[in-house]
Amino acid sequence: MSYNIAIDGPAGAGKSTIAKKIAKELSYIYVDTGAMYRAMALFFIRQGIGPEETERINQECENANITIEYKDGEQQVLLNGENVNGLIRTEEVGNMASATSVNVNVRTKMVQLQQQLAKTADVIMDGRDIGTKVLPNATLKIYLTASSRTRATRRYNELVAKNVECDLDTIEKDIIDRDYRDMHREHSPLMQAEDAILVDSSDMTIQEVVDEIIALFRERM
Ligand code: DC
Repeated sequence: MSYNIAIDGPAGAGKSTIAKKIAKELSYIYVDTGAMYRAMALFFIRQGIGPEETERINQECENANITIEYKDGEQQVLLNGENVNGLIRTEEVGNMASATSVNVNVRTKMVQLQQQLAKTADVIMDGRDIGTKVLPNATLKIYLTASSRTRATRRYNELVAKNVECDLDTIEKDIIDRDYRDMHREHSPLMQAEDAILVDSSDMTIQEVVDEIIALFRERM
């Protein structure tokens, strides 16, 4: 019997931080699906492909081989054999990932890889379509969200800590635009699965969210 947890939600809700902690506590494998879309987006950027070039995206995504490895428990994303973990966390790549993930060929390829991974181990997987599309029979589905201001403030604080110059209103606007794109695309838009539990992390600490999700999961096992 395999057990898995699906976490979906908008950008900056804390999905990956929380999923990583849960994976550690449960000794599960954490699968960050956004990183796969980001690696694919990096490939398109390197090819000089614009986000609107649907035809080229359709053709070129065949040439991007995305694979996953684990090193010291951390997911590593390989793009045609190159470890690109250190290159995919920029705003540019994130926005390109949001724009190109609307493409059905890109999605089909990523979903196949994700379902394959879930067959090999108990996983906690986060993304936008995990409960609705990738793992429709997940043991527990969570829709994790927070207000756009809270999410923007978290991102702002992260950037300030790294001495990156930034502006809170611009970050919030970017987040709202990204939410809109992710929620209104034709294929697998971001939405709460019917059987998912809504968790709003706006006024919760990371540990409170982790504890709540683990408690919900244990109830179902
Ligand atoms: O979670 P993230 O910010 O790393 O994801 C980057 C983009 O990838 C996100 O804006 C939409 C897309 N994505 C997706 O369409 N489906 C997923 N399962 C994960 C990410």
